[in-house]
Amino acid sequence: MSLTLFHVSDLHFGAEDRTALDWFAQAVAETRPDAVICTGDLTMRARHREFAAAAAWLGALAAPVMVEPGNHDMPYFNLLERFTAPYARYRSLRRVVHRDLALDGAAIIALPTIAPAQWRLNWSKGHVARADLAHALAGLSAAAGAGIRLVACHHPLIEADTQATASTHGGKRALAALARAGADVVLSGHVHDAFDLVVEAEGRPIRLIGAGTLSKRLRTTPPSYNRLEYVPGQGLHVMPQVMPQGMPRTAPL
Ligand SMILES: [Fe+2]
Repeated sequence: MSLTLFHVSDLHFGAEDRTALDWFAQAVAETRPDAVICTGDLTMRARHREFAAAAAWLGALAAPVMVEPGNHDMPYFNLLERFTAPYARYRSLRRVVHRDLALDGAAIIALPTIAPAQWRLNWSKGHVARADLAHALAGLSAAAGAGIRLVACHHPLIEADTQATASTHGGKRALAALARAGADVVLSGHVHDAFDLVVEAEGRPIRLIGAGTLSKRLRTTPPSYNRLEYVPGQGLHVMPQVMPQGMPRTAPL
């Protein structure tokens, strides 16, 4: 059975682009994809009102939704909460989103790449913890019968020649382990520009797919998302969808 997945990222409620969000929601309503996968940064500063707006918007989409949180989704102003309960606000979305997602013919496994703090000045960069990687590897193993196995994380595990970088600590090691475990694809966000490349890890090809942003925080490209079509026996086709120019826009930040 063929599958259609919409891969979207970095919605940044608090700095959202309503025109882009409406454009995307309309595409979901028309296409009815098997799932929408969001690779993080739902909010700008993890404010309660930003999560509430994200939950309302995600809950109204006409498809199952999976969200892997990004570095912007941990408390920013409340450091005590950031260290003691970094995912509490993200978990308020539980009602409307999935963590891992099992579809007929595909499995999407979450791999966290965020940390409340790191041994470097820039805590927004990626970090793969050993326990999180082990959990994702177990998920891949449990989904061994799926036609295609995708991993969803916020930060690209390795750089993909984009203007912004992820500098993910442990990313290369994680990519090798995921390839060994049979992952076919790694989906990510964070850099706000799309990419699609195949690299070899552990002697196996693994596809790295990045989604752009639907927020006002643009880098080099207009708002966009990825449409993924998987046909068993034929493979995965990735079609980047860029918002047409000339749509009435709200002012950029
Ligand atoms: Fe990010």
